[in-house]
Amino acid sequence: MTELIPQPGGVAIGSGEVRLTKRSKLYAGDATEGVGNWLRTVLQQATGLPLPEGRELDDARDGGIGLQLDDALGPEEYRLVSDSNGVFIEGGGPAGVFWGAQTLRQLLGPDAYRRAPLHRDRTWAVPHLTIQDSPRFPWRGLMLDVARHFMPKEGVLRYLDLMAAHKLNVFHFHLTDDQGWRVQIKRYPKLTEIGSWRARTKFGHRASSLWDDRPHGGYYTQDDIREIVAYAAERHITVVPEIDVPGHSQAAIAAYPELGNTDVIDTNSLPVWDTWGINPNVLAPTDNTLRFYEGVFEELLELFPSEFIHVGGDECLKDQWKQSATAQARIAELGLADEDELQSWFIGHFDKWLSARGRRLVGWDEILEGGLAEGAVVSSWRGYEGGITAARAGHDVVMCPEQHVYLDWRQAPGEDEPVPIAHVRTLEDVYRFEPVPEQLSEVEARHVLGTQANVWTEVMEDHARVDYQTFPRLAAFAEVAWSALPAPAERDFADFERRMAAHYPRLDALGVAYRPPTGPLPWQRRPGVLGRPKDGPPPNA
Ligand code: ACM
Repeated sequence: MTELIPQPGGVAIGSGEVRLTKRSKLYAGDATEGVGNWLRTVLQQATGLPLPEGRELDDARDGGIGLQLDDALGPEEYRLVSDSNGVFIEGGGPAGVFWGAQTLRQLLGPDAYRRAPLHRDRTWAVPHLTIQDSPRFPWRGLMLDVARHFMPKEGVLRYLDLMAAHKLNVFHFHLTDDQGWRVQIKRYPKLTEIGSWRARTKFGHRASSLWDDRPHGGYYTQDDIREIVAYAAERHITVVPEIDVPGHSQAAIAAYPELGNTDVIDTNSLPVWDTWGINPNVLAPTDNTLRFYEGVFEELLELFPSEFIHVGGDECLKDQWKQSATAQARIAELGLADEDELQSWFIGHFDKWLSARGRRLVGWDEILEGGLAEGAVVSSWRGYEGGITAARAGHDVVMCPEQHVYLDWRQAPGEDEPVPIAHVRTLEDVYRFEPVPEQLSEVEARHVLGTQANVWTEVMEDHARVDYQTFPRLAAFAEVAWSALPAPAERDFADFERRMAAHYPRLDALGVAYRPPTGPLPWQRRPGVLGRPKDGPPPNA
């Protein structure tokens, strides 16, 4: 049971065990009541034990569970002590206590992850031990693209639970793209009335010739978003919303054609996009567009308390701006050198707008081209380079290089993966990913807030596919983000695999459809049943 993931900072194992019984109480001290409620709920469901509320720490000393703060620890740091008295978790802040509670759940065994007890009279034991633990990075992120394929709210809540079980604390919510707009904006109802549905969907990657001819769509109401944000907060996860501008915006233009470059194309006939790739139909750099998106962000700031707000900024093709008299007039009027500087001006506008409201802008590394906005944080996805440049210029950075942590990339060679796209990134590859590049000095490296895995869903039409791509690699990623691992070549992958052998049963209990670690994939056991159509995309499409 002590095969923990992510690996804690220090574990000292004793010789006995604490047995949780019908008499065990759960005491939660000041500011830890939220964690106490969460822990009681999940353990009551899994064990059937009542775990009544203790009134003081002494109530936990009789084989119970005690939670409290210890000011001497960092905000996410915790100490877990299981001894002849009971189980005690102390954290520097409620988040630290919560991560300690997640460790306790691992110590109780896989069935502690179930929602109802399997057997009535089993024992629940925690080995005597002391764990001292704290995260390496404050930003341990996971991005989910709900634009390419909509994930209904229940799936998002479940995904947040899976993140919490792995001590990840930033959910980057990719809410808009060419293929769908997924958040209700009350002043612009057509964004969801029109922008949240597409007529059909390219099946497989963009080289595929197959179509799913059914409409696809959906969106979150503002109350759904409030629920998701509150549910995340209960799990000490910050939700960072992304509204992608000025590229990746065809769904918004389909809803409000005046947002597009109307002097270049007839935007009235643009549908919500039904295929994949980089789209030429980008926002017009007009005052009207700026005012429109200020309206969007005003509603967004009401919904998302996150300090960080993501504005995308990736893959904005400049062809229409080159052809547009309106865009060219704007370049001349602002005295800009080219279209890259026009994009910087556009992003810079929202950097100032968000800063004035006490928030910080985050953008993909293309926001470096044409000059980085003053307060911007960079998500470095096209390798490390953008992150290195930004950190050297004194900007904060989140490292998410696609070669390492894009979980839509295939997990094994060959064409039998259900999502056979891009290059192979195995579990071990992810385990050996290092977020801080060695080119950075110690001072520059402090700008690396942390790291993030990204799940793009062009080829993941439901949550079973998302599970398969996300797991088990997210477990390796979580250890990279949380634990103080040695340099990549020195990491003990065999030990990680040994601990994973205890982790798969936890994922089973959670109902995660992960990629099996060994042996034939389930569909390979029956000859002729493959994970993708014969007419699917070529490798590395
Ligand atoms: C990205 O993958 N376009 C950020």
